[in-house]
Amino acid sequence: MSSLALMRLLESTPDRYDAGMRALTLGRVRELREAVAEAAAQPGAQVLEIGCGTGSVTERLLARGARVTALDQNPEMLERSRERLAGRTGAVEWLERTASEIDALPEAAYDAVVASLSLSEMSAGERAFVLRAAARRLRPGGVLAVCDEVRPRRAPQRLLHGLLRVPQVLLAWLVVGSVSSPIPDLAAELRSAGFSVRAERRWLWGSLAALIAERPA
Ligand SMILES: C[S@@+](CC[C@H](N)C(=O)[O-])C[C@H]1O[C@@H](n2cnc3c(N)ncnc32)[C@H](O)[C@@H]1O
Repeated sequence: MSSLALMRLLESTPDRYDAGMRALTLGRVRELREAVAEAAAQPGAQVLEIGCGTGSVTERLLARGARVTALDQNPEMLERSRERLAGRTGAVEWLERTASEIDALPEAAYDAVVASLSLSEMSAGERAFVLRAAARRLRPGGVLAVCDEVRPRRAPQRLLHGLLRVPQVLLAWLVVGSVSSPIPDLAAELRSAGFSVRAERRWLWGSLAALIAERPA
């Protein structure tokens, strides 16, 4: 997730990725991933995962008995997922694709769509396209479970978060030449893609969020 500024760098070194994520989120990443996996996975549920990375959420979905189509555009991250879950070949399908390409997957075929820390890596335009395409992939009543870096709601939290991000942003700009920003209003983006938002939880001064939404029946 480029919005956690150093993510592009970490994604170029998948071996260090998981440890890097834990450090950048002060350990909260585990709770974020648990929240989305718990909301999305039931035994036998068909789940589409966008931006599976090294497979941390995929592993949780499979452990809860879901069948998963896991997609990522980065072949190295996808390979790490495949290695990690080598024994689970029957229950998971790996796709090396960009998120926008979910548009080619069957409509109304999934019980849940999951995106953990991947939406913030997309431009606002791509994210809007992907969210609308995700809604069409879901069966009526299906669940969208997402978590990501977001803009804190309150001014003091925004100020604190901004100050804490300064060293990250500087380092990212120096090392990878790009800087991005947290998603301004993820709940509003979900609503304008046709979802109804059922729940939202926040961590780290409101800068990390998990949102559970539904495609209306
Ligand atoms: C920060 S990682 C998160 C990985 C994993 N979901 C997790 O919770 O650790 C973001 C992942 O999303 C993938 N990603 C970002 N933008 C994407 C896009 N437009 N299409 C497909 N994958 C994308 C990246 O390649 C990366 O593996």
